[in-house]
Amino acid sequence: MPFIVAIEKKSFPQPWSYSLFLSEMSNRMASYFVALWQEKVIGYIGMWLVFEEAHITTFAIHPAYRGKGFGKRLFSYALQYALLHGCKEVLLEVRVSNVVAQNLYLGFGFRPVGRRRKYYSDGEDAILMKKDLTEGSV
Ligand SMILES: CC(C)(COP(=O)(O)OP(=O)(O)OC[C@H]1O[C@@H](n2cnc3c(N)ncnc32)[C@H](O)[C@@H]1OP(=O)(O)O)[C@@H](O)C(=O)NCCC(=O)NCCS
Repeated sequence: MPFIVAIEKKSFPQPWSYSLFLSEMSNRMASYFVALWQEKVIGYIGMWLVFEEAHITTFAIHPAYRGKGFGKRLFSYALQYALLHGCKEVLLEVRVSNVVAQNLYLGFGFRPVGRRRKYYSDGEDAILMKKDLTEGSV
């Protein structure tokens, strides 16, 4: 968990705290996965599975390991997990300024379906993106 919190701090302007991650560990709807490289935690992704809907809660790769395909592999794993657990769609919010993440999501077939005004506590809007999950689509 300390590795995850360290990556979180390097990745987000308003990082989740250790205690928030800890509370997620006892959330029965939540699933979290880490990316391991040479026995080191270099990234993580979290999601909530609520009936037939998966919602990505957090996702980051350590800055030193970005741009090498780790994010895509981890994200793909999470989508496959959601599909295997009966989810029919995946939703997520992304900052309007976060073009890198948006590109990744577009590459997986996500599309923008809405905008959440001032979603982040610093006032930035979020784009709501969605993908329908079908066999062979992840
Ligand atoms: C978003 C993030 C997880 C991507 O992880 P990554 O390991 O760097 O991503 P990958 O190397 O697998 O690249 C996946 C795709 O992201 C996009 N991408 C990656 N680097 C990019 C860059 N510098 N500029 C534009 N797009 C980029 C591309 O679409 C790329 O696909 P391609 O290689 O087929 O072109 C990582 O940048 C990160 O941790 N960012 C900070 C936290 C964050 O923004 N999380 C998402 C919150 S919604």
